[in-house]
Parts: sequence; structure tokens; C-alpha cells
Amino acid sequence: MSTTFKIGNDIAINRLGYGAMRITGRGVWGEPTDRESALRTLRRLPELGVNFIDTADSYGPDVSEKLIREALYPYDGLLIATKAGFTRSGPDRWTMNGRPDYLIAQAEKSREQLGVEQIGLWQLHRIDPRVPASEQFDAVKSLLDRGVIRHAGLSEVSVADIEAAQKVFPVATVQNHYNLVQRGYEDVLDYCEANGIGFIPWYPLAAGDLAQSGGPLDHIARLHKASPSQIALAWMLKRSPVMLPIPGTSKGKHLEENVAASKITLSDDEFAALNRAGC
Ligand SMILES: NC(=O)c1ccc[n+]([C@@H]2O[C@H](COP(=O)([O-])OP(=O)(O)OC[C@H]3O[C@@H](n4cnc5c(N)ncnc54)[C@H](OP(=O)(O)O)[C@@H]3O)[C@@H](O)[C@H]2O)c1
Repeated sequence: MSTTFKIGNDIAINRLGYGAMRITGRGVWGEPTDRESALRTLRRLPELGVNFIDTADSYGPDVSEKLIREALYPYDGLLIATKAGFTRSGPDRWTMNGRPDYLIAQAEKSREQLGVEQIGLWQLHRIDPRVPASEQFDAVKSLLDRGVIRHAGLSEVSVADIEAAQKVFPVATVQNHYNLVQRGYEDVLDYCEANGIGFIPWYPLAAGDLAQSGGPLDHIARLHKASPSQIALAWMLKRSPVMLPIPGTSKGKHLEENVAASKITLSDDEFAALNRAGC
């Protein structure tokens, strides 16, 4: 199975990426406790072959994008994907804002903050139910038309949402909550696979729960001399060729462990056993 995927049939990335939400302070708010360690973790990414990094204007807010720039600019061979659609008022506090003028201003701000001429992949963080979806999709199209962004994606959407958006702009990726034990979006994943859309599962490690021992991953982890988190990620990579997991970590050791999961090949029997255990 290929370990790479082409975003929008255009930008090739290694399928195991990195989620940069965890390099901010507690509650995804403010600066990280250990700034130097966060920068070190980011700088380790290209050394380990990770060339797909997911962030958002709202992580910090702004902190994650700025740290990425400080650590990795000019991003030689890296795709930095960002998002907008939430405002922040404090730790763990998120409010949707899908007003077209806001989305456009935030994408332009991310472009400036990251220091790029064009954002390779920009995602609508949520379809805000208080704003007509067509107005939000039109805003995304205008960003594409004006070259502010190269490819566009959606987050937390249904198949019907994707189909509605695709009438306005090509949907390159979908980022939904999905992992071995949270499988509510199987239909969306299947749709993405059938249509060549990258599927970016967020919380691929169930926010760390799947990295703990004592669960259904232990037995197969022992057989592969691997950790439970590595088996959870190997299961994802085998589940679909459009799957692009972005495990988040602030720790270099965990990053190395997660990246090494792409080298693990599960047998069909192991995959089926995990499928049953995770449902
Ligand atoms: N679109 C959306 O609405 C949305 C929502 C949430 C997240 N996201 C994106 O998805 C990415 C991934 O989600 P996430 O970071 O929240 O959750 P996750 O990847 O499921 O889990 C991250 C947690 O697992 C721990 N962890 C990671 N690797 C580990 C390992 N090898 N061993 C032990 N513990 C490990 C991390 O702690 P340590 O720091 O201690 O390693 C962290 O607490 C985010 O970074 C963000 O980019 C998107």
C-alpha cells in the first residue's frame, strides 16, 4: 500500500502527518509551557520524514502557526495545512464564526502569519449553522479563485455537506473525528475513498487513550514489539489509502514512536480482529 497521498491530486505528502494543536498552552490557549521543547519537536518533523502538518488560526490562537513558522520556515518540501472558523475567548473555549468576511480575513492572516504566498491546504474548521452554508462555501471559492489558498477542505461534515460544497469548489480533504474506537464517520471515509478525497482523522489516538496499555491493542502490540499507539495508527493506515492521520504530541519521543508506526504492517487477520475489538 502506498505510504503517500496526493492532496487535490497535486501535492504529494507522506500519509502519516502531525497535528500541531498540542504545541500550545493548556486548553489550546497561549504559549506552551516549554517553548524550546515545542520548537525542537517541530524541527524534528522533517528529519523523521513527516511533511504534512495540520494547524489552525485558533490554536493558541495564532501560537501554533507562529511556532511552525519560527521552527520550519521556509518549509522546504512541507505542506502546512491550516483552518479557520472558530474564535477563542479562553482555554478550551471555542465559538464558531463562519461569516464570509471573517473566514476570508482569517485565511489572509494565516497566509501572512505563516509567511507564504499561498496556503497549500486551508480547511473550513466548521460549517457554522448560523450562517447559510452557501455563503461559507462561496467564501472558500473566492479564496481559491484569488490564489490565497491552493486547495480547500472541510471539517466535521457529512456526505451531504461534502456534496453540497463540491457544487461550489473541489473538496480536497475532509477532517473528521475518527479513530479505532470512534467510528461514526465510516460513511464519510468510504465516500472520501471513492472520490479521491484525503480523510484526515482528528483524535487518531482518542486524545491519548489509545496510547495506554490495558486495552484491545495490547495483544497485537506485543506480537509486533510495538506500542498500543503504533498499532492504532497502523490500523488507520491500513483502513484506507486516503487516510491521513495527524497524531498530536508535544514530546519528541512520542513523535518518533508515532512516525515509526508507518513501518508496521498488520496482517489481514490482525486488522479484522482490531476492527471487531474497536467497534
Ligand atoms: N478539525 C478539528 O475539529 C480538530 C479537533 C481536534 C484536533 N484536531 C487536529 O487533530 C490533531 C490530533 O488530535 P489531538 O492531538 O487532539 O489528539 P490525538 O492525536 O488523538 O492524541 C494526542 C494525545 O496523545 C498523546 N500522545 C501522542 N502520541 C503518544 C504516544 N506515542 N504515546 C503516548 N501518548 C501519546 C499526546 O500527549 P503528549 O503530548 O504527552 O505526547 C496527546 O495528549 C490535533 O493536533 C489537531 O491538529 C482537529
